[in-house]
Amino acid sequence: MITAISSPNIALIKYWGNRDNVLRLPAADSLSMVLDTPTVEAIIEASDVFTVQSYDADGAEKPQSEQSVARLAHHFTLSKEYLVSIGRGKNLPKNISLTIRSAIPPAIGIASSAAVFSCLGEAYGALVEGRPLSREEVSILSRLGSGSAGRNSYGGFVTLTNHGDGIASAYGEQIADEHHWPLHDIVIVPSVKEKKVGSTEGHAAAATSPLFAERLRAIPKRMRECISALRTRDFEKLQIVSEEDALEMHRVMESQNPPLQYLSAETHRILREIEGLRASDKLNVLYTMDAGPTVHLLCTEDSLKTVTEFAEAQKNCIVFKTKTGGGSKLL
Ligand code: DP6
Repeated sequence: MITAISSPNIALIKYWGNRDNVLRLPAADSLSMVLDTPTVEAIIEASDVFTVQSYDADGAEKPQSEQSVARLAHHFTLSKEYLVSIGRGKNLPKNISLTIRSAIPPAIGIASSAAVFSCLGEAYGALVEGRPLSREEVSILSRLGSGSAGRNSYGGFVTLTNHGDGIASAYGEQIADEHHWPLHDIVIVPSVKEKKVGSTEGHAAAATSPLFAERLRAIPKRMRECISALRTRDFEKLQIVSEEDALEMHRVMESQNPPLQYLSAETHRILREIEGLRASDKLNVLYTMDAGPTVHLLCTEDSLKTVTEFAEAQKNCIVFKTKTGGGSKLL
């Protein structure tokens, strides 16, 4: 029996669009901060058939859709293919029984896929005999299940970077660990409705946006700026580059075919208000949004109190508080 634990991450330079949808090879590099909560635990055991049991934050069993089981089974197959390709395929189990325990509250607008698949990358990596896999190899296993999961095999600030071609050609690299610059993430969820179109389908249509090519051209410079802002702990530089990138990703989403409108009127209202508060109170706070209306407010310790009060004053919103965390690991 192998148990692994992981958590979600929040991207500062967003991953949107693939150069290979099956292998989840991203069209461009991305960068995120790993969160320390909420956590997901995955337990695997060798088995004749592939089975999945999943439990939610209350411990209640969560029935898995056929599509979700198929995605998990496909990831296991791809993971074995990758391990065989690097000469680490000896005595891998034919199948596994998988138990997922998620402590991610259902209504906080944070997708569980990065946490789940990075647990699985970690756990499948532990199936090999002999020397343990490198963090890069674990990142590749995680990425094969969900692109953003490839950024969870280290703690702190982690890129998903492209290197050439083939199944192993994108993996995580650590920019700085979780102790370098602890940042808070105050999450405001204005809507608890399930998103209609998930990331996997969205990525596959990203290139239909007339803005996609320009986005790919802009990302290398943004990556350099973001890495430099993180290394030097320059919050203003981080804010400018990450907000520009998040808003651009949403313009791509909104102009692809079919268009994806993830941000709501409430999201935009929250952004305008936080911009006002940031200017008047000189706060170190930045906003970013993934594939949904949820707003992540990243801030430094000295701005935390005001940002939390702002979040908690929002009507009809759920607030979740988290911060920089460590990556996936075996228990
Ligand atoms: C908007 O990693 O969720 O959150 O590989 O289909 O699971 P799949 O995609 P996923 O895509 C993340 C998209 C994003 C931006 C980001 O996290 O970089």
